Amino acid sequence: MPSILEFLRTRRTYRRFLPKPVPDAVLREALEAARIASCGSNRQTLKYALVQSPAAVAEMNRLVRWAAYLPPAQGYPKAGETPTAFIAVFQDESLPGVNDTDAGLALGSLTAAAWAYGVGSCIMGNIDRAQIKTLLGLSDRERLRLHSVVALGYPAHQSHLVPMREGSTPYYLDENRDYCVPKRPMSEILLADL
Ligand SMILES: Cc1cc2nc3c(=O)[nH]c(=O)nc-3n(C[C@H](O)[C@H](O)[C@H](O)COP(=O)(O)O)c2cc1C
Repeated sequence: MPSILEFLRTRRTYRRFLPKPVPDAVLREALEAARIASCGSNRQTLKYALVQSPAAVAEMNRLVRWAAYLPPAQGYPKAGETPTAFIAVFQDESLPGVNDTDAGLALGSLTAAAWAYGVGSCIMGNIDRAQIKTLLGLSDRERLRLHSVVALGYPAHQSHLVPMREGSTPYYLDENRDYCVPKRPMSEILLADL
């Protein structure tokens, strides 16, 4: 059992995956983690769509854009490296109290629950929202705003946190094609420590 910080250090974004399906029970546990997440005034405005059939996953994968900091040849998963499931996160604007903090908290819980089973994820906001709603059969639901999708699968690479150099935020690949993700040092982000 890793410490909570070791768990969080490795719960990174993953963009290449093994061709091994994520068990349905794990996906449903990730959804359950999102369902019970804290939210403003307990209003629970988020809704979800689960995509795990290989044909639908392949369609979804055509509607998302990977790793804006990298050339596509490096950042896009190749055939055999693509995610094996997606979860779409919707904000139901027919309910009062929609806000992005709730979506972030649900995404954090969802991706952590998946990682507890070794399932890596990529939260994705650079997506074709209209086409994804059509694929999911939800295009007529005008009050459903597609917030993001989460790509899921067993990672085929590692991801390392590295010290930030000269304020440079872009992640990059090392010689093993593992991700290196710079984070700002504590001395920069802790503004007061009384
Ligand atoms: C709201 C949000 C949207 C994101 N959208 C995308 C995306 O469309 N495509 C992608 O490849 N990664 C996306 N990411 C992943 C980020 O690039 C990644 O979280 C960041 O580089 C830091 O890496 P880390 O998650 O390992 O800390 C997104 C992350 C967040 C939180």
